[in-house]
Amino acid sequence: MKKLKNNKIKNNKLFLDKYQEYKDLVNNRLEKIIDKNDESCVAQAMRYSLNIGGKRIRPVLTLAFCESCFGFKQEALDIACAIEMIHTYSLIHDDLPCMDDDNFRRGWPACHIKFGQAIALLAGDGLLTDAFNLISKSNIEPSIKINIIKILSEATGSKKMIFGQELDINKKTKTSSKILDKINKLKTCELIKASAVLGCLVAKTNKNKILAASRFGEALGLAFQIKDDIIDVTGRQEIIGKPVMSDKNNGKLTYVDLIGESEAEKKVEELSKEAINILKKEFEGKIDFLIDLTNFLLNRES
Ligand code: IPE
Ligand code: IPE
Ligand code: MG
Ligand code: MG
Ligand code: MG
Repeated sequence: MKKLKNNKIKNNKLFLDKYQEYKDLVNNRLEKIIDKNDESCVAQAMRYSLNIGGKRIRPVLTLAFCESCFGFKQEALDIACAIEMIHTYSLIHDDLPCMDDDNFRRGWPACHIKFGQAIALLAGDGLLTDAFNLISKSNIEPSIKINIIKILSEATGSKKMIFGQELDINKKTKTSSKILDKINKLKTCELIKASAVLGCLVAKTNKNKILAASRFGEALGLAFQIKDDIIDVTGRQEIIGKPVMSDKNNGKLTYVDLIGESEAEKKVEELSKEAINILKKEFEGKIDFLIDLTNFLLNRES
């Protein structure tokens, strides 16, 4: 099947070069993690969904926070890749007919369209399980590694990301901005928060910065999901790489329905400012990239 065309977003060169450097690191490592010659269909489906694109926001946050805390990005690389594997599993399952029932993802046919539902389900399971195996084999001090496994499994487990997905598909639960915030925090912020925090943990930074990274992740994550909901109604499939009006056609209430598109944009702006202020207040030194990334996400088209 044909790939959809994707428009480029213009931004400053220094930021885009650094963003590309982080993405290349992640993409090259991911390319090696799942064996190309593996004969299993599930492995091919895992490789397909991982390698067809994606903004790589979460692993990039891990690497950037690690560097902002004066750590070495190479040491955080397998943790960053594990996070992207978990995120990709969540998207494969999110697109299934029993969930959002979407046919396109990252500009290509969704995993279940290309490989069938059973293989897609197993590819998600495989990515999730292999992600924790990757972390277990990483060259990180054992006590830090255990803490990383604890934080990541809690953030994406049945009380957080998975519970958020449960509430999200249950239309009756969405009635107010308070409930929407709760769903968005669970389904989206938790993994984004963990991505920032784990970068700090690898760099062995202090508690204050870890707390600040978590607060930053929450503000950025909320902004990110509201922007995603805006793009769901205003975007074009050739640019966003996934079907438009998916949430709307599924009868889900989002911020756009609740307060209108321009108020929702204002909310994204406020939350992005809040995230940037946390960075400025709590992180001295290397935060330019993270500030630019926050602004890039605020203005993104996909
Ligand atoms: C999509 O995440 C799911 C949400 C939480 C909104 P991304 O917008 O990060 O998707 P990719 O990884 O770039 O495809
Ligand atoms: C997906 O949210 C959140 C998770 C997969 C945890 P959405 O359903 O809004 O994401 P898209 O719009 O399909 O990317
Ligand atoms: Mg969904
Ligand atoms: Mg969806
Ligand atoms: Mg969406």
